[in-house]
Amino acid sequence: MNKKMTINSIQKTKGNRPLVMITAYDALFAKLFEDSVDMILVGDSLNMSFAGRKDTLSATMEQMIYHTNAVCNGAKNSFVVCDMPFGTYTTKEEALKNAISVFQQTSADCVKIEGGEDKAYIVEHLVSNGIAVCGHIGLLPQSVRSEGGYKVKGKNPKEQQTLIEDARAIEKAGAFCMVIEGVIAEVASEVASCVDIPVIGIGAGNDVDGQVLVFSDMLGLFEEFTPKFVKKYIDGASIVKDAVKNYSDEVKSREFPQEVHTY
Ligand code: KIV
Repeated sequence: MNKKMTINSIQKTKGNRPLVMITAYDALFAKLFEDSVDMILVGDSLNMSFAGRKDTLSATMEQMIYHTNAVCNGAKNSFVVCDMPFGTYTTKEEALKNAISVFQQTSADCVKIEGGEDKAYIVEHLVSNGIAVCGHIGLLPQSVRSEGGYKVKGKNPKEQQTLIEDARAIEKAGAFCMVIEGVIAEVASEVASCVDIPVIGIGAGNDVDGQVLVFSDMLGLFEEFTPKFVKKYIDGASIVKDAVKNYSDEVKSREFPQEVHTY
């Protein structure tokens, strides 16, 4: 069993080795993942992967707390990140109240909030009140409706500058690491080199301080669409469908259960 990461050991990986983060939403998968990863993110992507919603905006505090508890129960030795859902950190008071409920009701190690310079005052308020914060800059899934879609960032000098300013502001506010999503690889690399805290990429190329993937994407379970940045390590959907079809066929033909499965 690996030693559980802390915000300090996570920070020390910068410049030494890439961090590995994956999402999980329940105890079953979290337990399967924990020996191979540094951090488990209970992402609000759960409402797309598991609730079948078209974006992440419907996730609630209650859901995040429920799923974070499940992940913490399954992966007791993992560093767990709880995503703060859309609309739960619009003011610093609201953010602190909700982040405290995460810390009081789960054993999550930190919360994650989306936003750059505009959210730095919230990060600062949380950190100064004992909440460890992972930032999230670049493409912000919670802004999908206000931006009219998922837009890759860093395509022009203005966006590049904004990303660097965002990263610096989040670091200065006290975040111990951040996710950078959907950013041109060279720009993400430059952003990572501008700060001293780990910058974990998703759709941000290989020259950042770690990678995160949504587990149902990388296991090929989510069939609706596959973003360019996802590598499917197995064709989970086919494997699951074949297994359930076999089960169904064997029940119908009375091939299952056999003697060995019978009391
Ligand atoms: O909700 C999520 O899974 C995330 C990842 C895309 C980083 O925020």
